[in-house]
Amino acid sequence: MFWSLLFACETPDDGAPVGVDETGLERDGCWVPATLASPTTIEEAFDLIDALPGGPSVDVPCVLEALQRPLHVELTMDTLSAQPAASPRSPRIFIRNAGLTLSVVPEGAGRPLLEFAEHQPSGLSIKAELHFPVEQPLDRRIAFERVISEQVTIGTLCGLCHWDETEVADGVFASIPLRPTATTLVALEDLEAEWRSCERAVEPDRCAMLDALFDHGPVVHSPFPLDYPTIYDQ
Ligand code: HEC
Repeated sequence: MFWSLLFACETPDDGAPVGVDETGLERDGCWVPATLASPTTIEEAFDLIDALPGGPSVDVPCVLEALQRPLHVELTMDTLSAQPAASPRSPRIFIRNAGLTLSVVPEGAGRPLLEFAEHQPSGLSIKAELHFPVEQPLDRRIAFERVISEQVTIGTLCGLCHWDETEVADGVFASIPLRPTATTLVALEDLEAEWRSCERAVEPDRCAMLDALFDHGPVVHSPFPLDYPTIYDQ
């Protein structure tokens, strides 16, 4: 109902919907009502994705753009993960919402992926992953099924590195959260400089991710809690 009101508004040349949000601001591109823009659980992140302006434009940058600012991020150039950093100039980007960590990379094999960790009172985090572009409405099982190991091992591929894995609901697994080692961290200023010098004609996908991150309000550095182990602490 909300969206039909929005789509009734004028459409600019690039085809992105234009509308007026609940605070009276004119908006275009990827955005959702403020009540959906700060997900703290994987289900709430799915609600956000389902509320994005539809069509093939529902890609990873569209999700980043729609998130409430300020964004709280940590950056790592670690190459040992489910979503390795392509290089220091394209680090793995963690978005740290209360209760929910999201992760994306601007280029490389992990570029179409959005990784999820939902924090549990037990100290473990539920792991899930979506491969974009996605169709709306989302099939909400897919993100949990994707991470299940097809090998003989029980549980998820994530459990290969994130230890103490346990099944917390049918087909849903939680495991230890990991933080980057200090030597792999990338300064936010460095990535912001990469954004400013990004050549959109040369690397459109990488620049689209950096635009989605930096061009929609403040982004602040937010380190992981020091009581999370690193992968070398097992
Ligand atoms: C090869 C080892 C490895 C595998 C497999 C792996 N991770 Fe990780 N993960 C890491 C490391 C190392 C970190 C610490 C951050 C960094 O350096 O990238 C991490 C951190 C994370 C974080 C940040 C917070 C947290 O709760 O851990 C998320 C989210 C995450 N991984 C998601 C996943 C998901 C989802 C999977 C399965 C699809 C997965 N990881 C599989 C190595 C791995």
